[in-house]
Amino acid sequence: MNLIFLGPPGAGKGTQAKRICDKYNLTQIATGDILREHLKNETGLGKKAREYINAGNLVPNDLIIDMMRYEIEKNRSKGGYLLDGFPRNVAQAEALDELLNDLNDKIDVAIVLNVPNSELMARLTGRRVCPSCGTSYHLIFNPPAKEGVCDHDGEELFQRKDDNEETVNNRLEVYTKETKPIITYYEKQGLAHHVDGVGSVDEIFNLINEGIDSFVNN
Ligand code: AP5
Repeated sequence: MNLIFLGPPGAGKGTQAKRICDKYNLTQIATGDILREHLKNETGLGKKAREYINAGNLVPNDLIIDMMRYEIEKNRSKGGYLLDGFPRNVAQAEALDELLNDLNDKIDVAIVLNVPNSELMARLTGRRVCPSCGTSYHLIFNPPAKEGVCDHDGEELFQRKDDNEETVNNRLEVYTKETKPIITYYEKQGLAHHVDGVGSVDEIFNLINEGIDSFVNN
């Protein structure tokens, strides 16, 4: 089974993707995480992507599509995968279709997490992340057991550079202009399943599971 997670910045894609991957034994392919790893290691791609990420703009399509072709080809031998943060515009969605066609592979369902902008700002500016395992916490909505420290590995949590108010505003605008149109792209293919992303993490997890089951078992 191959899934796409769509939704605005802060919708909970990463939080839910980890749980869904554990449940269905999928590989999470998260473009943001992969790009931040390139930034940290100062690779050629990382150097080219840095200014776009820090400003909250999309990294150019040619860089992303090459990176994702490599990631999907590398991971598909392990079984199903969940694409988190890709595609992000219509050109990327079309490039993904071409790649899947070449590989004789397909997407089973695109889960769309819907959360109003008023809630997204609070979620993102209060987010803290583990540098080691990537788990996302929130200062108020989803705090770790011990303040400032990851529950899983005890690493000190950090705030992402693009989680400040100004950059979040730009990320939300970029989402509306460039990413939202691909919801229609997947609706036209009969692959989109909308989920209300407001509620507890457990409630939303259950709704996503119901959505996946309704697509995969029909
Ligand atoms: P990326 O890392 O993909 O960021 P994003 O899409 O903006 O998504 P986020 O990771 O911010 O949010 P999320 O939906 O995963 O939410 P989370 O679960 O953490 O991309 C970063 C940058 O990389 C882009 O701006 C761009 O520059 C570049 N990039 C990436 N992909 C690209 C592509 N394909 N093309 C071009 N450029 C690309 O949750 C957020 C917070 O809310 C957390 O604190 C969490 O604890 C909390 N939370 C989660 N669920 C709930 C809940 N139910 N109730 C309350 N709080 C909750």
